Amino acid sequence: MKVAVFGLGYVGTVTAVALARDGHEVIGIDPAAPKVDSIRAGRPPVTEPGLDQLTRRVVSEGRLRATGDAAEALAGAELSLVCVGTPSLEDGSLDLGAVRQVAAEIGAHLHAAAVAHLVVIRSTVLPGSTREQVIPAVEHASGRPVGEGWDVAVNPEFLREGSSLADYDAPSRILVGERQPGTGSRALALYERIVADRVVVPLEAAEAVKYTDNAFHALKIAFTNEVARVWAAHGADPGLVMEIVAADRKLNASPAYLRPGFAFGGSCLPKDLRALTAAAREACVPTPLLDAVLPSNELEVQRAVEAVLATGKRRVALLGLAFKAGTDDLRESPLLALAGRLAAEGLELRIHDPVVRLSALQGANRAYLEARLPEVSRLLCERLDEALDGAEIVVIGHGAPRYARDDEWRGQGKVVMRLE
Ligand SMILES: NC(=O)c1ccc[n+]([C@@H]2O[C@H](COP(=O)([O-])OP(=O)(O)OC[C@H]3O[C@@H](n4cnc5c(N)ncnc54)[C@H](O)[C@@H]3O)[C@@H](O)[C@H]2O)c1
Repeated sequence: MKVAVFGLGYVGTVTAVALARDGHEVIGIDPAAPKVDSIRAGRPPVTEPGLDQLTRRVVSEGRLRATGDAAEALAGAELSLVCVGTPSLEDGSLDLGAVRQVAAEIGAHLHAAAVAHLVVIRSTVLPGSTREQVIPAVEHASGRPVGEGWDVAVNPEFLREGSSLADYDAPSRILVGERQPGTGSRALALYERIVADRVVVPLEAAEAVKYTDNAFHALKIAFTNEVARVWAAHGADPGLVMEIVAADRKLNASPAYLRPGFAFGGSCLPKDLRALTAAAREACVPTPLLDAVLPSNELEVQRAVEAVLATGKRRVALLGLAFKAGTDDLRESPLLALAGRLAAEGLELRIHDPVVRLSALQGANRAYLEARLPEVSRLLCERLDEALDGAEIVVIGHGAPRYARDDEWRGQGKVVMRLE
């Protein structure tokens, strides 16, 4: 393919050189003359392992060129890869200025272009940027609506500086966001020589994945260092602890707990978090990250209360009360907190949980329940149909198979809300 790469920084240079190596005809564009001159001389404008030799080779073979002139680069190009910087503005928000400028330059070219063109955003941009900013900018400059001879895709870059060429060749996945099913397929064709999973999703999901990855990486590093400071102060070897934690592929380094759902609760996580942060305070070790976990978790309950209230429905069936399906342990159950909040809002509430039987609850568990939901004997139904009878909204808190009747309940005119 004939490819124009906008921006000859870390991402643009590595991508341009690798695409040229893999057989594409590539031209890089950058307003910084020294970067253009550098490529022309066969030298990469950034320092990365293996890049010097490869740049020299692809430039001498005539497969990679560079220019400061967008019009020259776009002549005959089938695809533009936008790799310009997206820095922070003073308030921390995203500066899309360079992306919008490139979009306008491409649009000006497309005004009279005969060859179909795909604009691929490789820079890191927030969800909505491509649909709401890039598409209008290109349409405005070209006078052509998207889909008429040109289209857009998002193709985030996952390389890390210092190992960028190796990461380019072995990415976690090749991710393409497309405007409509099929419109981004030519972006995938760029990477025919790379062995990796191909993932194709809507534009906004691809944009969001890149930020989620980076936020997750940052969170992991800060978390690890924070707990390491606590354990160092309490006589446990942080390196040894984290080695064992990281080796757990079942619950720790795994997809476990990475599906959006409802708040956590139960007899262990909240209690143990409190004990850990209390131990940190005792040792004068600040734990701002861990201190934020329970307040963040409580927001999930608040969000559910607001979502129920927003429906305007008054008669609520809450399915699930224990902190997870299959147990009658009610300690710190977020569903119990939700039930209390809904009852306090004056809603007509009925609750069902296949495992929680008032008659069978004893001791501390029963006392805990009655203290938090004094009217529980009136609200908790033994039978599911009793809880559903007359309900206008069904709030499903547990993934129990017997609660998988969303369509049937919707067919009865009930609003169905899934939390799990
Ligand atoms: N650096 C990384 O490791 C990395 C990894 C993944 C994603 N990203 C993302 O990729 C994007 C680029 O990052 P980078 O580190 O390569 O940035 P960079 O600052 O090194 O390079 C950006 C380049 O864009 C050029 N540019 C600015 N306006 C331009 C225009 N109108 N036309 C052509 N070129 C223009 C600049 O002169 C500069 O050379 C950012 O969105 C970044 O968040 C970076």
